[in-house]
Amino acid sequence: MSLSQETKNIQSYIRDHKVSDISAKELSDFYIQLVDCLVDHNHQYYIEANPLISDKEYDELFDYLKKIEEIHPEIITSNSPTQGLVWQISTWFQQAKHSTKLMSLENTYNAQDLEQRDERAYKILTKINPEDKIHYSIEPKFDWLSVELLYKEWTLKQAITRGDGWVGEDITINMKTIKNIPQKLKYPIDVAVRGEILMPKSVWKDLNKEREEDGETPFANTRNAAAGSIKLLDSWEVARRWLVCYIYDILSWDKKTIEELWLPVFKRKKEADSIDAVIAICLDEKVKKELDAQDIEFDGLVIKIQNQQQRNDIGSTEHHPRRAVAYKFPAQLAATQVLSVDFQVGRTGIITPVANLEPIQLSGAKLQRVSLHNFDFIKEKDIHLHDRIRLQRSGEVIPYIVSVITNRRTGQEIQIDSPKHCPSCKEPVNNIDMHYYCTNAHCPEKTKQKIQHFVSKNCMDIQGIGESIVDILVDNNIVENIADIYKLNDNTLQMQLRRFPWFGDKKVSEINKGVEESKHKALRRLLNGLGIPHVGKKIAQDIASQMNDEWWIMKNVTNTEWLKSIYGIGEKTIENVRTYFEDKDNMAILEQLEAVGINMDPQKYNNYVDSDEAKGNFSITWTFDIPREKIAEYFQKNGYIFHESPIKTTDFILIGEKAGSKKNKAQELWITIYEWWESIIKEFPFLKTITTIDPKPQVQSLF
Ligand code: IVH
Repeated sequence: MSLSQETKNIQSYIRDHKVSDISAKELSDFYIQLVDCLVDHNHQYYIEANPLISDKEYDELFDYLKKIEEIHPEIITSNSPTQGLVWQISTWFQQAKHSTKLMSLENTYNAQDLEQRDERAYKILTKINPEDKIHYSIEPKFDWLSVELLYKEWTLKQAITRGDGWVGEDITINMKTIKNIPQKLKYPIDVAVRGEILMPKSVWKDLNKEREEDGETPFANTRNAAAGSIKLLDSWEVARRWLVCYIYDILSWDKKTIEELWLPVFKRKKEADSIDAVIAICLDEKVKKELDAQDIEFDGLVIKIQNQQQRNDIGSTEHHPRRAVAYKFPAQLAATQVLSVDFQVGRTGIITPVANLEPIQLSGAKLQRVSLHNFDFIKEKDIHLHDRIRLQRSGEVIPYIVSVITNRRTGQEIQIDSPKHCPSCKEPVNNIDMHYYCTNAHCPEKTKQKIQHFVSKNCMDIQGIGESIVDILVDNNIVENIADIYKLNDNTLQMQLRRFPWFGDKKVSEINKGVEESKHKALRRLLNGLGIPHVGKKIAQDIASQMNDEWWIMKNVTNTEWLKSIYGIGEKTIENVRTYFEDKDNMAILEQLEAVGINMDPQKYNNYVDSDEAKGNFSITWTFDIPREKIAEYFQKNGYIFHESPIKTTDFILIGEKAGSKKNKAQELWITIYEWWESIIKEFPFLKTITTIDPKPQVQSLF
């Protein structure tokens, strides 16, 4: 029976039966059926990225399962999706032995290293078979936390960190919080696999933002963040870190591929028939750029011999298998000098020391400033004014001070003193441990930061209001809080604004448009834009998607139980949300926002994606039967971003009759053009459900 059919049967059974009504005879079978069904939907969602049911439907099934387990705890099976996350705090991690020694990859750094490896491989293999030819595959190399997963008869039984290769730590309990790892395999087999636990860059950035807000030192890179997270003793906290795991090696089974077992693989692979072709790929800047653009960080490539017989024949050294080798991308480090230190006030009032640097180039960017995070960090790294420092930056990621070059000190270095007054409002600062805060509710810099956050890309995405505009608006008391932004489309105020530099006709109409458009955006954007500490893009999205159509819930999200039910929300976040909504000033701002017509309905616009997650950008010039807005909405709901007119980053344009200037523009910009409904439907099959009307243009006969 298909999964969809099975799900329908289960849904109708649930509709007809209260948990307490299920007979003892039926209970066990139904329970197993329900668990299997949810496991399969998890697979569809996390591995195939092709959910067959809505989140709401999934939650209904999941809630029902929880109810059964509450009443009949004796029935719970280890592969039940409820067992993925155990609210449990372990006191230590047990040591555990690996099934076979976990080897490490040998590193190469240049073309010559790779050529030598290839020569040695040919020497060994041609001794066995003189005609042998090696085919290589090239995959991205992760360098985070290597882990062995043991599945016994379908089920994930144990996860062990690499440790010394022989013995590692048993992190099974935390592994179960990693959502893309199935609790159950496709086949009932025993298998040991190896993979890497990672933290996506976007999650790492959000986590660091939170840490900065809390005055904690951010993680230098995703690797430290992932390693620090999986070893946390509180599994609930681990779940909040949104780790992922990709599998790249089967240790004990070669009859099926990793994908066939339903395990997650990072699907980026190239193939090469000669070492020259391998080298060309390793040195290709385009390959590096493509990897830098991913949400996962890579530190190189792994070159693997593809043929299984050759892999067995070639064997291994004491520590490294010969069937695979790593090519490490050149490290991106640079040295420079701290020229001065500024203090920056964040939207929560936290004061962050920032170093101004002697400008340097590092992995394609000119760097002049780097965050010193807090006084713990300054002390730990022993950073002084005028020190020479080593900076690191990998991929598209924020630079970080690795260390001070102490042997280049001249004696002129000066200790960095903590601030006594807020650099913006000059009020005395509040000192808690090693952190400093401005507590003045009307500090102009805090207000500016709050507004900049509100209008930023991940929040309300209001075009036209950049840093300098915010400065003018706040310094002249035109805008005092986020809700005041909506005064900007008032005609009288616009007249007044024109006396300031920057506020020409074009700017005013850009702001007008941005402000108006922002009223019709997904609620998650507003939630993120409120600037509640810990409520970033992801949590905002989770809260919004858990809400029904009752905006009032949001005004009263002091309901701890409701918040707790949202996967991934921790105690601290709940506290912050409650504090925010209990504050009278905040409520007044929300009321102001509601009064100007900001969308507060969680059902509206919620499917629209952000640019970093989008499948593509499109534009339309439409004269077909279906309204342009409807077509745009369908594309947006299916993960595409709409551009009013084609621009450089537009990927494709749909063109109806009388396309005119937009078509010319698209041609100039090398944008893909879809002109015929048949070709559009073929490329975007989701449009088939849009309507039964045949939207073909009426072709008029010329005769
Ligand atoms: S397959 C060592 N494929 O690189 C036998 N390993 O030593 C496994 N690594 O933590 C070879 N990405 O676990 C393979 N795509 C990939 C890999 C990979 C990263 C790891 C390995 C180790 C590190 C360096």
